[in-house]
Amino acid sequence: MPALVLLGAQWGDEGKGKATDLLGGSVDYVVRYQGGNNAGHTVVVGDQKYALHLLPSGILSPGCTPVIGNGVVVDPAVLLSELSGLNERGVDTSKLLLSGNAHLITPYHTTVDKVTERFLGKRKIGTTGRGIGPTYADKINRVGIRVQDLYDESILEQKVEAALDFKNQILAKLYNRRAIESGKIVEELLTYAEQIKPYVADTTLILNNAIDEGKVVLFEGGQGTLLDVDHGTYPFVTSSNPTAGGACTGAGVGPTKINRVIGILKAYTTRVGAGPFPTELFDKDGEALRTIGGERGVTTGRDRRCGWFDAVIARYATRVNGLTDFFLTKLDVLTGWEQIPVCVAYEIDGKRVEELPYSQSDFHHAKPIYEMLPGWSEDITKAKTFADLPKNAQAYVKALEEMSGAPISAIGVGPGRTETIEINSFLS
Ligand code: GDP
Ligand code: IMO
Ligand code: MG
Repeated sequence: MPALVLLGAQWGDEGKGKATDLLGGSVDYVVRYQGGNNAGHTVVVGDQKYALHLLPSGILSPGCTPVIGNGVVVDPAVLLSELSGLNERGVDTSKLLLSGNAHLITPYHTTVDKVTERFLGKRKIGTTGRGIGPTYADKINRVGIRVQDLYDESILEQKVEAALDFKNQILAKLYNRRAIESGKIVEELLTYAEQIKPYVADTTLILNNAIDEGKVVLFEGGQGTLLDVDHGTYPFVTSSNPTAGGACTGAGVGPTKINRVIGILKAYTTRVGAGPFPTELFDKDGEALRTIGGERGVTTGRDRRCGWFDAVIARYATRVNGLTDFFLTKLDVLTGWEQIPVCVAYEIDGKRVEELPYSQSDFHHAKPIYEMLPGWSEDITKAKTFADLPKNAQAYVKALEEMSGAPISAIGVGPGRTETIEINSFLS
């Protein structure tokens, strides 16, 4: 039985929540391995719509155990409010497992995130303001606070004090802010400790045992390949590794245990926040994609920047993740265009370039080279099989598959669970 990674192949918001939820009914564990509540994953079940930020999308499937791995950064207040929000809607969340090694986002991380962005001015990243970057920075600087620290008060006090010593200097002297009292932070964190305790577990041991017993484990990425701190459009990235390798470090499972890596790929491209985006549209087509696709951020409510499909990026995602499959989403949004441009390569300094340039300066002035594919006007939201799609929609999918370097094994034709065409099973 397989262990699968499901991740974003572009700049996030590809439809990972829907894809995870679709598989959730057939898998035993769904594991978040990086990121935090910067994610916004939408799941539509019947007439119910859920927006999940921190919890794995598998939480909506009754048979499935949701897991927050060690690589995730956890805001305990958000965790508890997301859990109670789901409980109020009748969702059982009692099976949740939370790694004791996951790092905690505290109020000082959120403060530092916001003041840093303000300080950067027009050079800002456009973060979600959820404290993600500062929390990962503390983890790497070895002054982070972990979930397990909540259960040793004296250690917690020492660690918070150590973290704030330096931060307060910066807040007061550089940003002209009031220093944060460590005692208040400790007090607040301790109010969460008992409520969170029932979920805390040795998730690495549990997941490895599960895989060895033949259980199906799905690792759900947040963000996307181009937002990866190593492989994305640095510095306009998030502070973790959404790419496939991140699933191993962020869950404590070796690469030899992973059988499939599925890239979630939108039939066009979107991005939130600052940074380069070669196929971005500033015309009525961009506005139409935004409106028809409902491209507004689930976490921050910001309008998403929209553009045509970029095959250079899809090929890059195949390479850095070792993708075995794609799940193509939102094909229905493209219905109605007479012709659909697809970026097949870039022009950089007068030269045609087929692969993503490793130089940031080159990528910043890459111009898309488009190929025009014929569009379709028929409603495709009821299509159940590939053969149900109009010929031109089939040709569009086949062209994307050829350019992107991995088979398209499923196609999304609407936001609902059932609005999916399954071509190859992900679970065989
Ligand atoms: P995620 O962050 O990758 O989980 O994606 P988001 O939830 O932020 O954004 C994807 C949006 O597209 C959500 O509103 C989904 O309900 C919606 N969606 C997902 N798949 C499809 C699809 O195939 N067609 C349409 N029309 N909407 C989809
Ligand atoms: P999902 O999981 C889209 C972007 C932010 C910003 C950059 C850094 O829903 O696909 P951060 O707060 O992480 O330090 O911000 O990353 N970003 C996302 N964009 N979808 C997301 O998550 C994102 N999470 C972060 O907009 O540009
Ligand atoms: Mg999202």
